[in-house]
Amino acid sequence: MSDIKVVEKPGPFTEEEKKLVNVPSDTFVTERDKDKPLVLETRHLGIDFGGLTAVDEFNIGIGATEITGLIGPNGAGKTTVFNLLTKVYEPTRGSILLNGVDTHGMNPASVNQAGIARTFQNIRLFDKLTVEENVKIGLHNRTDYGMFTGIFRLPKYWKEEKKSHEIALELLDIFGMADQADVRADSLPYGAQRRLEIVRALATDPKILLLDEPAAGMNPSETEELMKNIAKIRDTFGIAVMLIEHDMKLVMGICEVIAVLNFGKIIAKGTPSEIRSNPQVIEAYLGSKKDE
Ligand SMILES: Nc1ncnc2c1ncn2[C@@H]1O[C@H](COP(=O)(O)OP(=O)(O)O)[C@@H](O)[C@H]1O
Ligand SMILES: [Mg+2]
Repeated sequence: MSDIKVVEKPGPFTEEEKKLVNVPSDTFVTERDKDKPLVLETRHLGIDFGGLTAVDEFNIGIGATEITGLIGPNGAGKTTVFNLLTKVYEPTRGSILLNGVDTHGMNPASVNQAGIARTFQNIRLFDKLTVEENVKIGLHNRTDYGMFTGIFRLPKYWKEEKKSHEIALELLDIFGMADQADVRADSLPYGAQRRLEIVRALATDPKILLLDEPAAGMNPSETEELMKNIAKIRDTFGIAVMLIEHDMKLVMGICEVIAVLNFGKIIAKGTPSEIRSNPQVIEAYLGSKKDE
């Protein structure tokens, strides 16, 4: 560890400070992703709010098509991690690499363009706009539709005409929402609004999708459906998903790797079964009923 430089102040960083270093490899990825670059890697990531260290020594490496869970008690720093990754907050320490590229100096818009999309713990939609218009706002972020055209095998004329309309409908269809395209966002039931947020994030063509408590407020059957859809998104687009979630059935059911955060630090990382049986995790989190 001695040759690792921990940056103690926020940027701007010198070239020397931006140089990449090897970290002791506590990163593991799935077999299928092992020869691909990590989609996201953080090194010594941390942030202080005044005297409060909200996140510290957050080191994680996420495989290209991995579904990762971030769990931990309320106030542990989970949303703050997402705010760091998406540049809502500038880190106090450490670095974030997206496909090997340091996102230092990027803002929320440029980091989204570079491939990180998210949803929020509290729904943020354009209420007065229709479902389709909300998705088109996501699509607007993109410069071309090449990837979607390929995946959906869109006829060639769609590339010329009506392409954003057709792509919006295809994306909505993943969640069975294409027939609600013309409905105003604020007239959707709560669960559907949460799904629309995911579609909108997906429309920005991310390499990694960050979902902050996607099942919050959903009933068990909606949560079940959501689980299937998250896996479907990953399988369809071949992207990574990182989710914060209190619903243990969802987390344990779809995540391949789980990181447990407590007081801003990762206290355990592993497969769902490793996490479930980790005594430290049980004490910090799983044992406390109120967060389950
Ligand atoms: N902008 C901020 N200013 C000051 N403190 C903050 C800010 N954002 C988050 N915090 C604090 O950081 C800690 C972690 O919060 P958060 O990331 O929202 O937790 P979680 O999502 O795990 O419930 C909390 O103590 C919270 O009050
Ligand atoms: Mg939170």
